[in-house]
Amino acid sequence: MNLSGKKILIGITGGIAAYKALELIRMYKRAGAEVKAVLTDNALEFVTPLTVQTLTTNKVYINNFDTSNYSPEHISLCDWSDIFVIAPATANTIAKIANGICDNLLTSLALAYTKPFLIAPAMNCNMYNNTITQENISKLKNKGYNFVEPETGYLACGAEGTGRLADLNTIYLRTVELLNPIKILSGKKVLITAGGTVEKIDPVRYISNFSSGKMGLALANCANNMGADVTLISTFKADVSYKNIVVQSAEEMLSAVKSEMDRNDCIIMAAAVADWKIKNYNQQKVKKTDADNWNIELVKNPDILKTICNIRQNNTPIIVGFSAESENLLENAEKKIKNKGCDYIIANDISKQNSGFGSDYNEVYIIDRNLNKIFIEHAPKEIIAKSIMETIFEQAGTNIKVGSVCS
Ligand code: PMT
Repeated sequence: MNLSGKKILIGITGGIAAYKALELIRMYKRAGAEVKAVLTDNALEFVTPLTVQTLTTNKVYINNFDTSNYSPEHISLCDWSDIFVIAPATANTIAKIANGICDNLLTSLALAYTKPFLIAPAMNCNMYNNTITQENISKLKNKGYNFVEPETGYLACGAEGTGRLADLNTIYLRTVELLNPIKILSGKKVLITAGGTVEKIDPVRYISNFSSGKMGLALANCANNMGADVTLISTFKADVSYKNIVVQSAEEMLSAVKSEMDRNDCIIMAAAVADWKIKNYNQQKVKKTDADNWNIELVKNPDILKTICNIRQNNTPIIVGFSAESENLLENAEKKIKNKGCDYIIANDISKQNSGFGSDYNEVYIIDRNLNKIFIEHAPKEIIAKSIMETIFEQAGTNIKVGSVCS
C-alpha cells in the first residue's frame, strides 16, 4: 500500500514492546511515508534515540523545551503530521491522555491533536484488565480515539493474558485505513433535517423548542465524511460544504423535504418539528393590554414524517424518524414507528442529564420495523451519528459493516 506523501507521527512509550515500534517505523517508511517519532523518557530505557533517528531519518523528539525550533514542538508536530500513532502505549500514558494530563511532549501532543489518532496498548495483563485502564480506554474510544486491541498470549513479564502489542501488520493496516477513509456512502444521497422549527405568533414572538440542531448536523457531517451526497434542511444556517436549505416553520420544512425527497436514498428526520402552530398569525406586533391573560389558539402542524412515509413509492427512500421522549421511551418510540410508518426510529430520552436537546452527547436506541433494538451508549453526537449511519446502511443491504471507517 502506498503511503507516499503521508506524514506519520509515531509516539513510543516505555514498555518492552518499544523495540517493535522500530519495525513499525520501517514498515511506514517502506510504504513511502515520512515519519517523525516522539519518545517519552521511559521509552529511552528501551530504545535509543540514535536508532529511532536512523530509521525515521528525522530528528527524534523527546522533551517540551527544545530551543532549536522557534515554534513549540507540540504544535508544529501536530500541524506537520496526518496521523498520530502511539505504539506501544503504556497504561500510564493512556491514563494521562484520558485525563488531559500533559506532563511530557508526547502527552502534550496528544492533548493538542485534532487529526486521526491511533493507540496500540501494550502492558501486563493485570494492568490491562484493571477496570481503571478499561475505563480510560472506553472514555477515549467514546471521544473518537481509535484503538488496535492488544493480543492475548505469553507476555514479556512471564504472565499469560491480554496485553501483548497487536501484530504490527494490524497496526499498519489500521493506520492505512485511517489515512485513506473509505467513502462507504459514495453514490448515496442522504437528506437530513435538523433544528427546532419556529412558529411565528407575530413579527416579534414565536413558539419553538430546545433543539440546537447538533444531532442532525452530526448526522449530516458523518454522511458527508462517508462520501454521501448530503442535503441538510435546517432551521439555522450551517457552515458546511454540502447543500443546506434553511427553513423556519414546519410548513416550510415540509415543502422543502417534499421537493427533495425523490432524489434521495435516505431521509433522516432529526429536526424537532413543532406539533402546533398559531391559528391566526398576527401581521403586526400584538400590543400589550391591561388584560392578565393572552389566549393564543393553536392548530396542528402537518406531520412531515408521516406525510413522506405515506407518499413514497415502493418503500423508497429509506425513512428514519427520531422519537424524543421524557418517559416510557421504548413504549412510545414503538408506537411512533408504527403510527408514522418509517423504517427506523431513533429513540432518545430527553430527560437524561447531558444528553438529547442542546447537549454534545446523546444515548439512543435504533429500532427497526420489527421492533429489534440496538442500544448505542452515551457518547458524543458524532459517535452516535456514525453508529446510526452504519447500522441503517448495513441493514439496508449495502456493503457497510458496523465499526467500519468514517473519517
Ligand atoms: O437538536 P439537538 O439539540 O442536537 O437535540 C437532538 C434532538 C433531541 C432534537 C433529536 O435527537 C431528536 O430527538 N429529534 C426529534 C425531535 C422530535 O420532534 O421528536 P418527536 O418524538 O416529537 O417526533 C417524532 C418524529 O416525527 C421526529 O423524527 C420528528 O422530526 C417528526 N415530526 C414530528 C412532528 C411533526 N409535526 N412532524 C414531524 O415530522
